[in-house]
Amino acid sequence: MRVIIEKNYEFMSKRAAEVIAEQIREKPDSVLGLATGFTPLGTYKELIGMYKKEGLDFSRVTTFNLDEYYPIPSTHPQSYHYYMQKEFFKHININPDHTYIIDGLVKDVKAFCRWYEEEIKKVGGIDLQLLGIGRDGHIGFNEPGSSLGSRTRIKILDAATIKDNARFFGKKEDVPKYAITMGVGTIMDAKYCLLLASGSDKSKVLTKAIEGPITAQVTASILQMHKDLLVIADEKASRDLKNKEYYQHIEKLTEELKTLTIEE
Ligand code: GLP
Repeated sequence: MRVIIEKNYEFMSKRAAEVIAEQIREKPDSVLGLATGFTPLGTYKELIGMYKKEGLDFSRVTTFNLDEYYPIPSTHPQSYHYYMQKEFFKHININPDHTYIIDGLVKDVKAFCRWYEEEIKKVGGIDLQLLGIGRDGHIGFNEPGSSLGSRTRIKILDAATIKDNARFFGKKEDVPKYAITMGVGTIMDAKYCLLLASGSDKSKVLTKAIEGPITAQVTASILQMHKDLLVIADEKASRDLKNKEYYQHIEKLTEELKTLTIEE
């Protein structure tokens, strides 16, 4: 696990976009796992800028979104379909046939979830999974108590998540009570995970996730077991981290170490 602390949301977003861009430059047909919510908005904005200014090429990239509310039509302004088009896809040269987002109205949920997992496998798995963290410690919509080995499936949302997401829907009653989400196990299969956290309201939960015990009560904590995890947090979100100084010390020495060793 590597932890980078940036001074604010803008710098966090720039750094995250640089990591994703590097992945695409190295492997133009990369498979990206994408997230929604407020946190990755700045990252998408930066990537759009890189496409427009530097010609960062998305034409061979495939994407799989983490989750979608249920039931919700893709035309609903709060659906993750709508979000992805509005905030990212319509601004870049991605092939729409290569963008997979969970169907929020599917009837045969089990068959759909099996299909989603199969499609991920068919393209060789996710190279880089972008993640935010929910206030209850969830990744995707893997609420507290989710099996740490779970696969894509339908979940009943936690009361705290419904309350939290009311900011997008206007009122609590309008927030869907269910969601279809990649499982914790699906996320852990990604070759590389990039977890972003911004703002003081994420500082406690980020600390639990990366420095606390691994528990299904904070599903993000399983990321401590991931073989290649990068956490990028801003100052506010890193406020409660106990090992903050050590992470900063590592960052300084990592650059120096690069001059001494040969990288693959
Ligand atoms: C939702 C999404 C998560 C996201 C979380 C945090 O619950 N399902 O993938 O990480 O919200 O959202 P925000 O980035 O707005 O804090």
